[in-house]
Parts: sequence; structure tokens; C-alpha cells
Amino acid sequence: MPRDAYVNGRYVPHAQAQVHVEDRGYQFADAVYEVIAVHGGRLVDEEPHLDRLDHSLSSLAIAWPMSRAALKLAMRELIRRNGVERGIIYLQISRGVAPRDHAFPKSKPRPALVMTTRHARRPNAALLEKGAAAITVPDIRWQRCDIKSVSLLPNILGKQKAVESGAYEAWQVAPDGTVTEGTSTNAWIVTEEGELVTRHLDHAILSGITRQAVKRIAAEGQIKVVERPFTVAEVHEAREAFLTSTTSFVLPITSLDGDKIGDGKPGPISRRLREWYLDHMDSPPSDAAA
Ligand SMILES: Cc1ncc(COP(=O)(O)O)c(C=O)c1O
Repeated sequence: MPRDAYVNGRYVPHAQAQVHVEDRGYQFADAVYEVIAVHGGRLVDEEPHLDRLDHSLSSLAIAWPMSRAALKLAMRELIRRNGVERGIIYLQISRGVAPRDHAFPKSKPRPALVMTTRHARRPNAALLEKGAAAITVPDIRWQRCDIKSVSLLPNILGKQKAVESGAYEAWQVAPDGTVTEGTSTNAWIVTEEGELVTRHLDHAILSGITRQAVKRIAAEGQIKVVERPFTVAEVHEAREAFLTSTTSFVLPITSLDGDKIGDGKPGPISRRLREWYLDHMDSPPSDAAA
């Protein structure tokens, strides 16, 4: 199937999609992004993703490149053209194109919008059966991790270390010994008492849309969720651990830095939450007409 990208108002063959060399996203990482899951051809949790995009844009004083309604139409058109049933849409908005200078351009260029799609990979059955391994790395990021910026070097270095260690994810650790989040996922533990713990929202982590959904789903299922920092030592003592993200959904973490978590197998609460989250992806939002 031919694959198109969307670049500044035009649908172009993916292989020919280009941005300007002086796009500020390219030169300064002066850009934000979103990744939204497509399930049954439908965007999952579209509104919360667009709310977070609005937060990222307004935090950096980047204007919307078009209205929210127009963006929704453009996303749907790209998904339709590329025949995406299950997968993701990636969108990136930069401050635009201007002669290289750190300060915001006085010319107020039009923000540049690029979108691509990808079909979902087949689920990794062995990974789901065994659970994933994580390692810890120091959190060396900046103090506005709530902004979904394309400036991801610390995340890239952390993930690469995980890959080189044969692990799936790296959990980033603040100087006080608490886990902030993964390099592209939010981090959770299940305590001995059966409570879910995930770090509270502040500037130290991204407000994951999957995190938001899982928090609600857990509460509906009578599982208590506590939002607070937790230490690496608490992970080692936890009954279960898991991560959440748009692309990994809910994924049990069964070892940290080579040590088993709980009995070293995906636990019942992580499994149940994954099932419930998959049900959530299957169910259209109440305002499905939107
Ligand atoms: C640093 C970070 N934390 C958490 C997440 C999970 O967010 P979401 O559930 O919206 O995919 C991501 C996703 O890319 C991320 O990059």
C-alpha cells in the first residue's frame, strides 16, 4: 500500500517528504510531538492527546498550525490514505523555518506540521508471557519533562543503554533515589498491600495519556492508585511492576537491573490492567461522532 506523509498542508509520498534545513525543529529541537494509537482505524484517546499537545505548544509559545478541528480532519485523512487499522500516527509541530538564531524569530514563521503513520507490529508473545526487563539510569533531563518536546537525547541514551543491556526500558532515577519514569513510558509498581503506585504529575515527568487511562480504569476496577514518588528500593520490594505507554499499552516489568521483581513473572494485577486497557482501546469514546 502506498504510504503518504503530511507536510505543511500537503500529502506527499513518504519517501519524498522533506522539511527545510532551517526548520527550527531540525536545528534546535524547537518542536513538540504526539504519538496517538490507531485502533480499528480510530484514534485512541484523541482528546487527551490534543489537550497535551496544547499544553506543550502553549508552554513554548508555539501557535497551533491550524485549528484543532482541521488537525483532526488531516489526521483522519492520513490514516485513511495509509489504510491504518492498527498502528500509530506521529505528529510534530515546530516553531517553523527562520534564519538560525536562538531567540524566537521576529518574522513569526508559520509553525511547521509534519505527520506520519506506522502500522502496528505483531505483539511479541514471548515478551508478554515473560514480562520485560528494565534497568535504571540517572535522570539527566531538563526540568520541564511535562512538555512533550522532540529534544530527547537523554531518553535516547537511556534507551540505548537498555538495549545494550538486553533490557526493554530504562527507568530514570532522580538524585533523591526515586524513579521518575521510563525513557518513553511511565513507571508503576504494585505494593505488598496491592496498591498501585505511580509518580505524581509535576514537571519531572510526562503526563502519559495511557497513565491517565490506566489510573481511571484501575479506580473503576476497585484497585487503589496512589500518586507519589517511589524509590528504586521499593521497586525491588514490590509485588509487581509495569510500564504504560501508547505503543506498549500496559507491559509487566519482571526484573530491574537483573534482579527479579516479585516472583519474576507478570503478576495478576498487571495482566488484568493490560486486559482492561485493551478493552478500553476497543471501546469507542462516548462522543464517537467527533
Ligand atoms: C518520557 C515519556 N514518558 C511517558 C510516556 C508515555 O506517554 P503516553 O502514555 O502518552 O504514550 C512517553 C511517551 O512517549 C514518554 O516519552
